[in-house]
Amino acid sequence: MKSLVSRLGFWVVVLAILSAADCGQSKTEDAYVTLLYGDEFLLGVRVLGKSIRDTGATKDMVALVSDGVSDYAEKLLRADGWIVQHISLLSNPNSVRPKRFWGVYTKLKIFNMTNYRKVVYLDADTIVIKNIDDLFKCRKFCANLKHSERLNSGVMVVEPSESIFTDMMSKVTTLYSYTGGDQGFLNTYYSDFPNAHLFEPDLSTDAMKTRPVPEMERLSTLYNADVGLYMLANK
Ligand SMILES: *[C@@H]1O[C@H](CO)[C@@H](O)[C@H](O)[C@H]1NC(C)=O
Repeated sequence: MKSLVSRLGFWVVVLAILSAADCGQSKTEDAYVTLLYGDEFLLGVRVLGKSIRDTGATKDMVALVSDGVSDYAEKLLRADGWIVQHISLLSNPNSVRPKRFWGVYTKLKIFNMTNYRKVVYLDADTIVIKNIDDLFKCRKFCANLKHSERLNSGVMVVEPSESIFTDMMSKVTTLYSYTGGDQGFLNTYYSDFPNAHLFEPDLSTDAMKTRPVPEMERLSTLYNADVGLYMLANK
């Protein structure tokens, strides 16, 4: 009898897990998002996902995958807890640029994820080492200036907006991109970014109410560090 009950319990748990994994729908109003163009970076995304969960974050994790990603890779991602969404590549208008940039404008599609209130975008080659849920307090657009006066598109916080996305799409063929990809485009689009104020997650809501909502905020270097910065600091 006891074993029957425990066996029943086991199947209830299995069913619960299956139905949760099955729906693959958005559950939270904010999401961590990454982009996968092919299976080459599958391991990177899996490690990123585990690193996000290891910080205790419970927000949706969305992997935007393009045609080059195999069914097998998608299955693994779903099993890891990613919501997998298919996207078509946004072609690169600067076609004279190197081939490896083909499709990199696709990243701009995160601005179109209007079923979410806020999106924290992380490149597939990043890992999270401390909880970064604070980033969802960013207002409209947050990124880092990295190694230069240019914003880096590897870590960004975006408030998805149909009007901004439409505006970007209308400028994609005319605005200059020094990289031939999304990062160069975003630097031209947010040309005033080097003058953006530092993002302060702990600013009280009262203080925020008295100031106009900034179009862009600059993230502390701590949010997008790399080995190069570590070396520069003589560590
Ligand atoms: C932007 O989002 C809308 C609504 O989800 C969708 O219909 C449209 O196809 C998207 N645009 C692009 C270029 O992905």
